[in-house]
Amino acid sequence: MRWGIVGHGSIAKTFMKAARGIGHSVDIVVGRDAERASNFCESHDVPESSTDLLSLVGNVDAAYIAVPHSGHCSAAVPLLEASVPVLCEKPLAVNESEVVKMIEAAKSTETFFMEAMWTRHLPVYEKVLSWLREGKIGRVTLVEASFGFNAPYEPKSRLWNPDLAGGSLLDVGIYTLTLADLVYGGLPEEVSAEAELSPEGIDAHLGLLAKYPGGGLARLGSAINAAIGFSGKIVGTEGVIEIPFFWQAEKATLDSDSSSEEFSAPHEVNGFEYQIREVERCLGSGLTESQVVSFDWSVSMMRLMDQIRSQIGVVYPAD
Ligand SMILES: NC(=O)c1ccc[n+]([C@@H]2O[C@H](COP(=O)([O-])OP(=O)(O)OC[C@H]3O[C@@H](n4cnc5c(N)ncnc54)[C@H](OP(=O)(O)O)[C@@H]3O)[C@@H](O)[C@H]2O)c1
Repeated sequence: MRWGIVGHGSIAKTFMKAARGIGHSVDIVVGRDAERASNFCESHDVPESSTDLLSLVGNVDAAYIAVPHSGHCSAAVPLLEASVPVLCEKPLAVNESEVVKMIEAAKSTETFFMEAMWTRHLPVYEKVLSWLREGKIGRVTLVEASFGFNAPYEPKSRLWNPDLAGGSLLDVGIYTLTLADLVYGGLPEEVSAEAELSPEGIDAHLGLLAKYPGGGLARLGSAINAAIGFSGKIVGTEGVIEIPFFWQAEKATLDSDSSSEEFSAPHEVNGFEYQIREVERCLGSGLTESQVVSFDWSVSMMRLMDQIRSQIGVVYPAD
């Protein structure tokens, strides 16, 4: 496939490595500043740079959006309206109304669109879900996940700036909610949130307690101001599954009353290749939506994060 990338920050490089690693090409990179975009293309062997989103139309098979969250909707909508298939970084947007607008644009032109929630495509989760289906740890009673690090306080940066929809929930908390969602197969019926807010009013540290249909709980944490770790754990009535670095997992271990197992699935490149292959598969089959990360999934995840933000009082200019 021929890709165009919108944005040329840190994750664009990760994506490019995976795409090239499986034989795809990156043909155009779009930035907001001509010189920075051109410098990036020169140093990363990309043939063309542009400051015009619509330069992708007709010249690539799909676009990957890798700008801060606050720019996802305004980049995706014109591309989708011009029938360019889009893989857009997580969180899909800043709030539910933006996500709905993006999906409407995709539907109106029958163009493929997917949130780049790469965790859902990782082979480790096929194994973990099969362990759960087989009842290897009994009934799940708790999902525990943390994703947090101590980033320098830089109020203008993507992580901390409310104008760029900064904060831990949208950046990394979404992965902890995704793990619980994978395990319980849906969203919680109740959620309760506590947060430490930054001076600008974004969630620097967030703690969540959620209750899922059937009674299972999730205890989730995310932070950009505290090294709370990167662990994922699923506790059942008869055992425990541990998933180190759960959002980019290459390994899971199961310890139950009757057995111990380890499953290992090293990434072929860096883990992004699985979602890229899913885009290729969908486009090859004429699909406009992936069932791995469906439109409904993205809308309900965003609605849940809106609900959590309203509990802790985090408001963005886009709300
Ligand atoms: N899937 C993952 O594992 C993963 C990991 C990290 C991030 N992400 C997602 O990817 C997106 C980008 O993250 P990143 O870490 O790559 O960000 P980053 O390193 O800060 O790069 C952001 C890019 O967007 C451009 N940009 C456009 N409008 C901007 C604005 N108003 N303010 C600042 N930059 C702007 C920047 O261009 P300039 O050079 O012109 O500033 C830069 O090229 C985020 O939505 C994030 O959630 C995903």
